[in-house]
Amino acid sequence: MTFRASVLTLYPDMFPGPLGHSMAGRALEEGKWALDVTNIRDFATDKHKTVDDTPAGGGAGMVLRCDVVASALDAVSYGTRPVLAMTPRGKPLTQARVRELAAGPGAVILCGRFEGFDERLFEARNIEEVSIGDYILSGGEMAALVLLDACIRLQDGVMGAASSGEEESFEEGLLEYPHYTRPVEWEGRTIPEVLRSGDHAKIAEWRKSRAIDDTRARRPDLWEAHGEHPDQSPSAAR
Ligand code: ADE
Repeated sequence: MTFRASVLTLYPDMFPGPLGHSMAGRALEEGKWALDVTNIRDFATDKHKTVDDTPAGGGAGMVLRCDVVASALDAVSYGTRPVLAMTPRGKPLTQARVRELAAGPGAVILCGRFEGFDERLFEARNIEEVSIGDYILSGGEMAALVLLDACIRLQDGVMGAASSGEEESFEEGLLEYPHYTRPVEWEGRTIPEVLRSGDHAKIAEWRKSRAIDDTRARRPDLWEAHGEHPDQSPSAAR
């Protein structure tokens, strides 16, 4: 089963964009994931190809018309794929949701512009609103690229052996431990001795300890959500 992304946007030229480069780009060429892009404007019905209108009740900005967006969406054969809309009021994206999406057949992704979509679209269709963070982008396109990048790197054969283990760390609800490489000494700073010891058990212990300490210091919210902290006494391994 190939992960298929169907993107609906007013700016089709923004895709694949960065996903046409590096690992995702190579994987796209190799058919390890698939992409189709629909220009929402193609579904406008008037001679000016209008996709938006002024907000009912007044106010700034423009609202995407539900009839035009629904026509574009209904023209996508999405099968069992979930339909997502990138919006700042959506449910915050997590690695857990990324894993679910990545393991499935793909996603149909609606990208908004302006003030967003006419609310009736969400009432009339089964659409999951997704946010990539508490800040406002000028449109959903970059958010869609972020979501897709996170899903694509988890597809079979896209990344080397490096990926799976690293992911486990985040799945455990901890930040990653710090990394080092040569030169051993730089500007008077050295690589921690334990990492040069060759003692793999000690190294694993040190990394776990640093992951715990760093998570508590930088992301107390993550640490709290992490739940029981059995035998995890921070700094114990240092
Ligand atoms: N569109 C605009 N801002 C967004 C955000 N933070 N997440 C997802 N889609 C968006």
